[in-house]
Amino acid sequence: MDVDRKAFLAALGPGAAFGAMTHEERAEALESYMMSQLGKQFAIAPATVRRGMGVMFGGPTPSGVHPELGALAEMPRKPALVDFFRLRFMPHTVAHMLQSANDALKKGEPEETVFACLVHDIAVNLIKVDHGYWGAQMIEPYVSEKTSWAIRHHQALRFYADPSAGYEYPEQYVRIFGKDYVPAPYIQAAYEHAHKHKWYMAARLITVHDLYAFDPNVKVSLDPFIDIIGRHFKQPKEGLGFDASPVAHIWRSLIYPDNPL
Ligand SMILES: [Fe+2]
Ligand SMILES: [Fe+2]
Repeated sequence: MDVDRKAFLAALGPGAAFGAMTHEERAEALESYMMSQLGKQFAIAPATVRRGMGVMFGGPTPSGVHPELGALAEMPRKPALVDFFRLRFMPHTVAHMLQSANDALKKGEPEETVFACLVHDIAVNLIKVDHGYWGAQMIEPYVSEKTSWAIRHHQALRFYADPSAGYEYPEQYVRIFGKDYVPAPYIQAAYEHAHKHKWYMAARLITVHDLYAFDPNVKVSLDPFIDIIGRHFKQPKEGLGFDASPVAHIWRSLIYPDNPL
C-alpha cells in the first residue's frame, strides 16, 4: 500500500511530534495508520450483493460468510411450516433456531417462548435487514399476537443489555457493528416502547436464548418441536404461500426463489 506521507503526519494530529518518536513508536503509528486506510478501502469497495439480502438468496451471514447454495428440493403443493424448515431454510439458520428453542425448552420456559425461539430468525433466509419485523409479519396471521410482537421486538432488544434477565450485549455485535455502534433512532424508539410493554419479557427471552444458539458442535432435531408447532402455529389448509393471506407472497418468495420476476 502506498502511504501518503503528508496525510500520515496529519493523521498523527497536531500534538504528535514525529521527530521525537522512537523507531518502534514510528513503526507502530505507521502500522495502525495503514490498517485504518485498509479498512477504508474495504468500506468503499463496491458490493457484489447488498448486505441485507437473505441467506437463501446468496446473501452473506452477518459476519460476512457467503453460504453455499445447493439445488432446491421440490416443495409439496400445500407446504407446511415444517416443510420450510426441512426443504428451504438454510441449514445454519435452522441449526441456530433449533439450538435456541432447545435452550428455552431445557430451561423450562413457557411453550409459547420455545415456539417463538424456534421461528425467531426465519426471515434471515429472505432478508436480513430488519429481520425481526419481516419475521413477525410472515407469521402474524398464524400465531398469537404476543408471539409476533415478541419476534418483532427482539430486533431492537438485541442491542440493549438487560443483565437482570440474563442478557449481555453480544461480543459478536462488537465485531459486526463496531465498538462505538449506536443504534439508529428508530431502533432506540422501538426499544423504549418494548421495554415498557407488558410483553417485554416475551421478546427479551428470545434474545436471552439467542446467546446460547451458535454452537457448531450441537445438533438438535426438529422432531421434538413438531407438536409445539402444531399447538402454536395455525397451518393454513391451502398451504403457506397459497392461502391468499396478506403475507402469502413472502412464503412464495421462499418457495420460488429462482423466479425472475
Ligand atoms: Fe434475530
Ligand atoms: Fe437469532
